[in-house]
Amino acid sequence: MNIKNLVRKNILNLKPYTSARDLYSSGILLDANENSYGSTFNEIDGLNLNRYPDPHQKILRKLISEYLAVKEENLFFGVGSDEIIDLMIRIFCEPKKDKILIPEPTYGMYKVAADINDVEVISILLNDDFQIDLETIHKSFSDGVKIIFLCSPNNPTGNILNKKDILYLCENYNAIIIIDEAYIDFTEVLSLIKEVKNHPNLILLRTFSKAWGLAGIRLGYCIANEEIINLLFKIKAPYNINSLTTYALTKAVKKKKTKENYVKKIIRQRETMKKELTKLPGIIKVFDSDANFLLIKCVNAKEILKGLADKGIIIRDRSNQPKLEECLRISIGTAEQNKILLKALKEILK
Ligand SMILES: Cc1ncc(COP(=O)(O)O)c(C=O)c1O
Repeated sequence: MNIKNLVRKNILNLKPYTSARDLYSSGILLDANENSYGSTFNEIDGLNLNRYPDPHQKILRKLISEYLAVKEENLFFGVGSDEIIDLMIRIFCEPKKDKILIPEPTYGMYKVAADINDVEVISILLNDDFQIDLETIHKSFSDGVKIIFLCSPNNPTGNILNKKDILYLCENYNAIIIIDEAYIDFTEVLSLIKEVKNHPNLILLRTFSKAWGLAGIRLGYCIANEEIINLLFKIKAPYNINSLTTYALTKAVKKKKTKENYVKKIIRQRETMKKELTKLPGIIKVFDSDANFLLIKCVNAKEILKGLADKGIIIRDRSNQPKLEECLRISIGTAEQNKILLKALKEILK
């Protein structure tokens, strides 16, 4: 497959911005109109916040390359994985001409990013098990479709998508296949990392916002073939990842054990909550989950949503998504928070 054939012409021809820190990051730096005297915030030693950060993401790429045993050339970091979703659409989709295809229900940002870029969305449905329906994709796919967005484990349904269906799409469609693995830490099913080298059109999205507990630093990344990574570097804002975020990650990766403990606790709580929620009247179904949330189908979702909000407990209404009538999504909280939630639900549903 020739990836170049899928890329917008203006992006292929683009002469990227060359930033001051592209060539030099040490010496007497009088090239970027920074404040050479120093910084108004200098509580963290050695950070030099008066200087623009490294546009090449060298520290992050090295850290995660070692962590995942993936080559640095296959890694790109974004301001959350949300930034990368937007960049992907801008690389491959010509506004008003090209399209993306999204099996729903799924994460809402794929459509929003397409809408912002004036790119048409072909919205199809996952099947009744929330799996990819290859037949429907076959019928809905047309030449203008440049990207298929899939999420596994899927938000908000919680299930993993079948690997063989994903690989079938990679092998049989002339399009970019993006698999959003935001919740991959919460499942025992393996990531598709090993498949990236066999499939030039396969892109994996990851985030530090979930298992790592770092939603506040806004950091996500993607694993893809080098050609796609180079295109991302070509079009990104020159200094998209800031020095504080990079610093936070250098500390966080040393706490792999802490992350793994969080994951264990969350999975244990998820299974307890699944059992407990299933017992409640007014809850028709608690869907299996490979993520850090549960999707529930209720007799009256709005009543539960409002009842909980009145008690200061906020969960997410997903009932306006296709196939999710009367469905709510509950993030797994701490043991303490979950107890309070269950008590509140018992009061509302008695
Ligand atoms: C499936 C999925 N992808 C991506 C994101 C966004 O991640 P980030 O915080 O890295 O932008 C979310 C956030 O909820 C998500 O559910």
